[in-house]
Amino acid sequence: MSSIFGLVPILAVVAIQLLFIRSVSSMNLTNAYLHHKCNNTEGRYKPGSVFEKNFDMILHTVVYNGNLTDGYRTYQKGKDPNIAFIKFQCRGDSYGSKCRSCLTTAVSELRKRCPGNKGAIIWYDQCFFKLSTKDSHNKIDYENDFYMSNANNVSGNPELFNREISDLLKKLTIKATNENIVEGSKGLFYGAGETTIGTKKIYAMVQCTQDLVYNSCYACLEWIFRKLPECCDGKRGGRVLGTSCNFRYEFYPFLRY
Ligand SMILES: *[C@@H]1O[C@H](CO)[C@@H](O)[C@H](O)[C@H]1NC(C)=O
Ligand SMILES: *[C@@H]1O[C@H](CO)[C@@H](O)[C@H](O)[C@H]1NC(C)=O
Ligand SMILES: *[C@@H]1O[C@H](CO)[C@@H](O)[C@H](O)[C@H]1NC(C)=O
Ligand SMILES: *[C@@H]1O[C@H](CO)[C@@H](O)[C@H](O)[C@H]1NC(C)=O
Repeated sequence: MSSIFGLVPILAVVAIQLLFIRSVSSMNLTNAYLHHKCNNTEGRYKPGSVFEKNFDMILHTVVYNGNLTDGYRTYQKGKDPNIAFIKFQCRGDSYGSKCRSCLTTAVSELRKRCPGNKGAIIWYDQCFFKLSTKDSHNKIDYENDFYMSNANNVSGNPELFNREISDLLKKLTIKATNENIVEGSKGLFYGAGETTIGTKKIYAMVQCTQDLVYNSCYACLEWIFRKLPECCDGKRGGRVLGTSCNFRYEFYPFLRY
């Protein structure tokens, strides 16, 4: 009797553990939705409108059928007042089909979350997508940024940890903006790497959109690094994302090549 009654909670515990393992791994294996912003001052478009046709044309040209080898594009279609601009970028490890799959999800979700908005942005783990009535090519967007961090604190000395993270991100910035390093010379503006703090490995990346020039990539990253104390003070993982640059660090490898 007691063994039968004892079995149920054991199975339940095992089931809960399996669920937990599943959700932990899916947390970093799937392409999670992160955030979105609808800009109401940019106005709205109606179904079947010229603006919507321009937007659809862009999607067919550059998202569904485009060459996503470098995972990035700014593009425009139409004439005032129906001109549509888009900008997107995939994470440095997510070009080609992974990029397309992220963008397809992102665009369909953007249409649900900001229906009819001519100005809207959506962020996923592996990409962001921005629709606008204004050209943002080669301009740092200082208005649209947000951060996310792990609720758990590091053990040990948080000041030391913060300094190590800051140093790692600065090292990756040099990598991302150095014309002589392969990733930089391709203009990918992407740097990924790791460091060891104590006995633990920390994985990180920085990335700028490819419309920026070297100096503005650097300036954009400097700007988001200033948000480190607010975002990530002693946290076991964190990121700041914008539409011109972003960074992330974690205690686990989150990039998938
Ligand atoms: C919203 O759109 C307006 C008009 O294009 C622009 O001036 C403003 O900067 C946008 N706001 C954000 C947060 O991007
Ligand atoms: C995609 O673009 C890259 C770089 O612009 C180019 O090298 C490559 O040949 C293109 N691929 C296709 C299939 O067009
Ligand atoms: C992390 O540290 C902050 C500040 O010391 C504290 O407010 C917070 O509760 C801590 N979080 C956890 C999960 O322990
Ligand atoms: C996923 O996250 C968990 C918990 O942080 C970590 O242990 C694991 O190594 C990660 N897996 C991958 C593939 O990133």
